[in-house]
Amino acid sequence: MITKQKGTYDIFGEEAKKRAYVDEILSTLCAKYNYGYIETPVFEASELFHRGVGEATDMVQKETYDFKDRGDRNLTLRPEGTASVVRWFLENKFYGNLTDPIKVFYNMKMYRYERPQSGRNREFTQWGFECFGCDDARSDAEVISLAYNAYRLLGLDDITIKINSLGDKESRENYRNALVDYLKPHISELCEDCQERFQKNPLRILDCKVDSESDIIKNAPKTLDFLNEESKERFDHLCELLDLMEINYEVDCKIVRGLDYYNHMVFEVVLDDSYALGGGGRYNGLVETLGGPSTPAVGFAMGYDRTLLAMQEKNVRIPIDDSIDLYLLSVSDTEKDTAAYLAQELRLNGFVVETDLLNRSLKSQFKSVDRYKAKFLIVLNDDDLAKNEVVLKDNKTKEEERIKMNDLVDYLDMHL
Ligand code: HAM
Repeated sequence: MITKQKGTYDIFGEEAKKRAYVDEILSTLCAKYNYGYIETPVFEASELFHRGVGEATDMVQKETYDFKDRGDRNLTLRPEGTASVVRWFLENKFYGNLTDPIKVFYNMKMYRYERPQSGRNREFTQWGFECFGCDDARSDAEVISLAYNAYRLLGLDDITIKINSLGDKESRENYRNALVDYLKPHISELCEDCQERFQKNPLRILDCKVDSESDIIKNAPKTLDFLNEESKERFDHLCELLDLMEINYEVDCKIVRGLDYYNHMVFEVVLDDSYALGGGGRYNGLVETLGGPSTPAVGFAMGYDRTLLAMQEKNVRIPIDDSIDLYLLSVSDTEKDTAAYLAQELRLNGFVVETDLLNRSLKSQFKSVDRYKAKFLIVLNDDDLAKNEVVLKDNKTKEEERIKMNDLVDYLDMHL
């Protein structure tokens, strides 16, 4: 038997319905913030992610699905959405006509070669959004507010937004140097991963899960102490705005994010201090890194699967209607043909209708009525059909009503 690949999953049944519910909430919310939907290809030129996300990042070093196609092109399965959206922004030359910000959101599968465990998969979904053209703390606040409201509308009221600032290029560079100087004498005391990170991506040492409680990490220099005046003012303004908007946040200097493209504000969404349910921040340099003109940008991505798990753990009730409106029972050929015709009419009019497609006995069909939790049922009957009538039964009250077939749609409209 061929089974699904490690770290991938099938989505069906109740899980599919839950996702449809979550999708509806998230896309309605995005529309309120005037974000339009975007979908980018599953694979892109490898260079896009390698250069965009950063050669030294864990993602590019260890996690990307890189392959050559039959035309010898170097391709990568999309590990995240930001670089792809920037490629779209550049390819369509939106930078040339930025009279208003460009705001887009996505709900896409991502691929990372990671060790699968609860909430960590190789194929997973991110709901994310990106905004180009604004370089103001107010646009940072709007992005954080959209992320915050999404979790709250999904019933996760206890989330904390952890924010930090890496500052502009100069502040970030000063901080990196200070951190490297500070860590150098202690590096042999840290875990193997951190020793590797020290060479390639020292900021990542700060959010190492293994060493997080060590004094070395606790006493490390803090990004906020290295912000230059402009970066500091910008961050202070953001905090004031978040207070004003009554958004629950915490400043946490350990939030540095794993991808290279961030500057200024970065943030993560956590629940009960466990893994991140989402993360984002400002990336003013990425458009330029990928070959465009300097363009400010900011965004966020929710780990969709982790968020669903968190909803389950917090017993958030997802209203799923798993009942059908009407079951049409039939035995004779004319009854079955009429069931097909009526089902067609009723489905077009918006009702959820089932018929017997297996030529089963009435007794078995009644069992389906219960399994499908049908709200109404009709036992089609040749004598009634000759008079253009049906007997509609309310499956809850067990009351029956004889009605003309032509009146069925109006009747169901009134009673459902
Ligand atoms: P990221 O932190 O790499 O950021 O991913 C965002 C979220 O995706 C994480 O917080 C996590 O919830 C979820 N996630 C990541 N990897 C996995 C996995 N293997 N399995 C399940 N969930 C996972 C980005 O991807 C940035 N592009 C976010 C962004 C958008 N920044 C600016 N705009």
